[in-house]
Parts: sequence; C-alpha cells; structure tokens
Amino acid sequence: MSKSSNTFWHQATITRSNREQLNRHGAAILWFTGLSGSGKSTLAHAVEDELYRRGCRTAVLDGDNVRHGLCGDLGFSEDDRTENIRRIGHVAALFVDTGVIVLTAFISPFKVDRDRVRMIVEKEQDFIEVYCNCPIEVCEQRDVKGLYNRARKGEISNFTGVSSPYEEPDNADLVVDTGTEALATCVEQVVDFLMERGLIPEL
Ligand code: ADX
Repeated sequence: MSKSSNTFWHQATITRSNREQLNRHGAAILWFTGLSGSGKSTLAHAVEDELYRRGCRTAVLDGDNVRHGLCGDLGFSEDDRTENIRRIGHVAALFVDTGVIVLTAFISPFKVDRDRVRMIVEKEQDFIEVYCNCPIEVCEQRDVKGLYNRARKGEISNFTGVSSPYEEPDNADLVVDTGTEALATCVEQVVDFLMERGLIPEL
C-alpha cells in the first residue's frame, strides 16, 4: 500500500519508443531466476557482453551487489525476499522505460513475487523469465562461495534449497540448462530468443 499521497505522475516528453528507436533495439527485462550457484550472474554478464558487442544498451542488476546498497537493509526471511524482488522489479521497470535491456540475477525463489514483476511492466512481453535450471547437487558441488557447506552445518539459516524453498517456474519464457550446457550455448540460446522476439536485430 502506497503512503505517497498527493503525488502526480509527470509524463516524459521523450518516450520509451523514442529511446528504442535511437538505440535500434527493444527494451525488456531478462529475469534470470534459479538457485544460488546455478549460474545466473555468470550467464547474465556473458549475455551482456554479447549484447554490448552487438551495440545494445544494457544493465545488470545482481543479487549480491544490490544487497550491498539499495537492499542492504533486507535479510533472507520470506518477507525480506519479497521486498527485495518488489524493489528490483520496480527498478528494472524504470530501466525498461529508458529503453535499456536490463538483466537481473536474483534467486527470486517465490513464484508469486516473480509474477508480480510480470504484472508491473507495461506489456507482459517486457518480462522475460529465464530459468537457470541447475540441480542442487551441482550447485552444492560447485559451492563457489562456500555457502552450501555453511548452510548444511547450520551456520546460515533460511538458505535456499537447504532450509528455505525454491519454487521452480512452470511458465518460464526460456529454460536454460546451466547445470549441463556450456556457457556459450546458454548465451546463444538467450540471444537467439531475443532475435526471435524481434527485440534485437539479426547480425
Ligand atoms: S533472493 O532470494 O532475495 O532473490 P538474492 O538473489 O537477492 O536472493 O541473494 C542471493 C545471494 O545472497 C546468494 O547468491 C548468496 O550469495 C547470498 N545469500 C546469503 N544468505 C543467503 C540465504 N540464506 N539464502 C540464499 N542466498 C543467500
């Protein structure tokens, strides 16, 4: 519920469509979701590299980074995760208005929170849900940050996949097998999807 009463939306003169024409590509949110260690950030940055090479304007919002600033007051309870995703959803929607392709890498474990982001964007198609499908065994074996090990020992509470749930998307726009496929293959799959959607031009 908004507490900001008596406020008025100021309509920009330069529209999203103006900016998209200038950029020569469409704007959208590529929403990467999956377990910790499933490769969301790696894939988001690798896709960004490829889009940059193709002359696209992009931004990456990454869970660990955003939690150092904008969401530094939030922990990992269900309510805090919901608030985390709500804030990121709105920030990402603002980026879309500026004509940018924004790539977000958050566990975003709850379906209802992801669906809420889909609802706040201008067009449903602006929200592209990319499920980074990687079995927990693989994430745990990688354990890049050593967090699974600590969670199993009971040193971290509410850890996704261990002591907090992850709800797999059942209607993801794209499923990428980050547990088995090579990074380059996953990047190609995402970029091909953007071309098929007509968001970015063919090379
Ligand atoms: S989300 O659930 O709210 O979407 P987010 O993506 O922002 O999570 O942050 C996840 C990152 O925080 C993980 O990659 C990991 O490095 C770190 N982390 C610390 N504690 C936890 C926890 N209890 N559960 C999951 N990730 C955690």
